[in-house]
Amino acid sequence: MLEKIKKIGVLTSGGDAPGMNAAIRAVTRSCAFYNIECIGIYRGYQGLIEGDFELLTARSVRNIINKGGTFLKSARSQEFRTVEGRAKAYKNLKDAEIDALVVIGGDGTFTGAIHLEKEHGMPVVGIPGTIDNDINGTDYTIGYDTALNTVVDAIDKIRDTASSHDRLFLVEVMGRDAGDIALNAGIGAGAEEILIPEEDMGIERMLDSLTKSRKSGKTSSIIVVAEGEKSGKNIFELADFIGENLTDYDIRVSVLGHIQRGGAPSCYDRVLASKLGVGAVEALLRGETGVMVGITHKLVTSVDFEVAIKGSKPLDKELRRVLNITTI
Ligand code: F6P
Repeated sequence: MLEKIKKIGVLTSGGDAPGMNAAIRAVTRSCAFYNIECIGIYRGYQGLIEGDFELLTARSVRNIINKGGTFLKSARSQEFRTVEGRAKAYKNLKDAEIDALVVIGGDGTFTGAIHLEKEHGMPVVGIPGTIDNDINGTDYTIGYDTALNTVVDAIDKIRDTASSHDRLFLVEVMGRDAGDIALNAGIGAGAEEILIPEEDMGIERMLDSLTKSRKSGKTSSIIVVAEGEKSGKNIFELADFIGENLTDYDIRVSVLGHIQRGGAPSCYDRVLASKLGVGAVEALLRGETGVMVGITHKLVTSVDFEVAIKGSKPLDKELRRVLNITTI
């Protein structure tokens, strides 16, 4: 396999995440290290379909390790979901003599890679890049640590004003299907309650708990709500519901939104991206394909794409216990 790979393409796809640039840099420089040409593909699978390629050299990825977003840009390509779209993409890869691909993204990105590999035999290795941390086979995804720090920083600021005005704040964080950001940032920021997509704790129980905390002398509180949580109410409806039932609470809502996806990557994310970028190129050189490289107990490991995107990641149950104890 080592002789066969002369050119590797790299793309970022799906929701962007801080650290994606550091991953592109590591892929590009690993290619340079192993004397392989590296081709950057713009706007994910859409750029693959349109043949929007550019040669990347070790020097063309300078000064990006510290930058949020992805300089290759990202997209969610509808056309790539079709057999015809993928055939066009494969033709462009062949025309450009690209032998293998590194795709950086989340479950949608890996699903696309599975199709490309199965339909056309294209060697593909994935790198998990999403703030949601909702990928199996890796302890952490690139961007998650930065997003946690962004959320904690934002909630710290909200806490200041919540405390000054004796208010209850509901803060919505990202996580359409995963509660990792909500649970970890919530504990880190000292939230009173955390609502996540993986479990329906019941909103009546939340009323009880807020009543208890009032009685225990708390004058202000923060509830962290993951956008995909299961109460069936959006955050504004939740605020109304609490307000109607607990009339002594002065309630405000804050939706953090896309600030969670931006910003300079944390040191952890830069190191993780560097390790996985090198790991992805080396996995291709070993002849691996159809796998994602991830981090497990500090080691770079590979799992099949199917495993990476299968179901939801098990919740860290200990966090719920810790939350219950620390919010007494
Ligand atoms: O990157 C993942 C994610 O942040 C989800 O948590 C969120 O629901 C989604 O992306 C929003 O993405 P977009 O605004 O790109 O549709």
